[in-house]
Amino acid sequence: MKPSDLPPSDSSAHLEAKPHGSLPSSLADALRERIPWTPDMFGVLGSGLGHLGELLEDSLFIPFEELGGLPRPGAQGHAGRFIAGHLEGRRVLLQSGRFHLYEGHSLEVVAAPVRAAAALGTRRVLLTNAAGGINPRFEPGTIMLIDDHLNLMGRNPLIGPVRPGEERFPDMSEAYDPELKRLVVSAAGHLGLELPRGVYAGVLGPSYETPAEIRMLAALGADAVGMSTVPETLAARGAGLSVLGLSLITNLAAGIQPTPLSHEEVLAAGQEARPRMEALVRRVLAGLRS
Ligand code: HPA
Repeated sequence: MKPSDLPPSDSSAHLEAKPHGSLPSSLADALRERIPWTPDMFGVLGSGLGHLGELLEDSLFIPFEELGGLPRPGAQGHAGRFIAGHLEGRRVLLQSGRFHLYEGHSLEVVAAPVRAAAALGTRRVLLTNAAGGINPRFEPGTIMLIDDHLNLMGRNPLIGPVRPGEERFPDMSEAYDPELKRLVVSAAGHLGLELPRGVYAGVLGPSYETPAEIRMLAALGADAVGMSTVPETLAARGAGLSVLGLSLITNLAAGIQPTPLSHEEVLAAGQEARPRMEALVRRVLAGLRS
């Protein structure tokens, strides 16, 4: 058999530039038909944080299945709809139901809602998540401001041909927007809430980490670990959006916490943190400069 008869090996397949899919633009078109305004903020609600969607006034619920092209999110605690409405006088679009790589979704799907929000003209993204606490000062229930991240997922949604309006090599030295950080720190101060900053390590999952992996992540400088957010931040930065990231520490990471980790405790911590998260998000929205 000649080498040319062989199927392309996996190692060369990734070098073929596939055209990027049209999911973000068809999603943006479908959302535009239902929402007559440009959101001041697009928010992604993490595990157990779906309740933030109930805060919006004049809210319009748009299930993913009405938009075409989006699969149903599989993770428990994730609803599968967009919610458009107003809060603190701001126009807000929320994604309740996140797509995770560990569910087998492609990066195209995971990043599509952020890219669709960018296509709608949104300039800011709030990414929330549930995370395991690595920093020994964190207790379950702590809300951590994501200061920076470690992409340990081995993937990046910006791979492939450069999309219109995106850069080939986006700068990531301020992946999480300094002005939005100042705003949320001042909001927390007004509310008397502690808001430690930290580095979020994004891992693929779906198994939780081993204690050895947690020791490795601590040595790498991670304060918290989770299975989301990093792809959305990368897509947002690629499209030039400003990102604010908040992690709810739902458990202490493996080896630090004496009991086995469970998704139920992640969801319960989300419920417990409800008033604090809601107050923080309200105050951030109220403080946005138009
Ligand atoms: N590890 C990874 N992801 C998580 C955790 C954790 O301990 N808690 C919530 N999401």
